Amino acid sequence: MNERKRTILITGTSSGIGRHVASRFLERPEWRVIATARHLEDIADLAERSAVTRSLDLDDAVSIATLAEEVNAGHALDVLFNNAGYGGYGAVEDLSLDQMMRQFTTNVFGPMDLTNRLLPTLSRAEGRGRIMFNSSILSYVVSPMKGNYCASKAALDAYAKTLRMETAHRNISVTLIHPGPIESRFNANVYKRYLVETKPRANPELKTQYAALERAMQGQDDSMKAYRLTPEAIFRAVYEAATDRYPRECYRITRPSKVLYWVQRLLSDRWVNAVQSRRFADG
Ligand SMILES: NC(=O)c1ccc[n+]([C@@H]2O[C@H](COP(=O)([O-])OP(=O)(O)OC[C@H]3O[C@@H](n4cnc5c(N)ncnc54)[C@H](OP(=O)(O)O)[C@@H]3O)[C@@H](O)[C@H]2O)c1
Repeated sequence: MNERKRTILITGTSSGIGRHVASRFLERPEWRVIATARHLEDIADLAERSAVTRSLDLDDAVSIATLAEEVNAGHALDVLFNNAGYGGYGAVEDLSLDQMMRQFTTNVFGPMDLTNRLLPTLSRAEGRGRIMFNSSILSYVVSPMKGNYCASKAALDAYAKTLRMETAHRNISVTLIHPGPIESRFNANVYKRYLVETKPRANPELKTQYAALERAMQGQDDSMKAYRLTPEAIFRAVYEAATDRYPRECYRITRPSKVLYWVQRLLSDRWVNAVQSRRFADG
């Protein structure tokens, strides 16, 4: 039988989760992969493995519009995996407006704009169009020193849930992925940004808290090691959401994502706040 290949577009395939998911889809001949990254040279190896590679910078509206125009004009698109993102860490009081806006541009407004622009093509997907967002456990369990990142992922969740309601009649399904700790360059990249963007503005009164944050970003405090999974766990969720007849609305990946979801639902806000505040005070 000569079935049409299905196409998935993935953002942020230069490293970590996006790279792994792209790579695993490329192993399957029934899939065509549009792999995107800010710098094409970072994904040259994916092109050699027959991915269609395109540059996409979520901070650049022209880059988003150009890609969406090309896809809408020429490509069939079945699945969009909004994966790219970063963490701008630091106490919320120490963040500049520019820093806060940049975080939201990359993690929220860029993916929203890209998704909105690709909706016409996803609506025409045979079967049904699938949209996935790589959110985070931190969208529902907020953490001190990561407030702006948490806010961006919570905003992404709200957009995704609204989109799900508004596009159901077009046979499009919307899935949220909520990973806990996953092996990738995420913390190393967060640390690089932190040194430039937050450290020079850090409030000295929070010296202990910043020292703890720096240890965590550098991988020196590995209290999460036992729970950390490889990006394969995310691939499995994305693949299921892409191929199941009725994809789940949400995949919580890693044990902390599952357990803490129920903990914060079952306990009072006061209790959750007290625990998190104690952790913050202890640094
Ligand atoms: N790893 C975890 O523990 C974890 C947990 C929960 C959620 N997540 C989420 O998973 C997603 C992937 O992160 P990861 O763990 O794979 O980290 P990563 O290795 O740092 O990968 C992040 C990817 O996002 C791309 N990116 C950053 N800013 C971009 C922009 N303006 N435009 C386009 N692409 C951009 C990066 O490209 P460059 O190489 O060009 O910077 C990179 O490809 C993120 O949304 C993150 O919030 C990760």
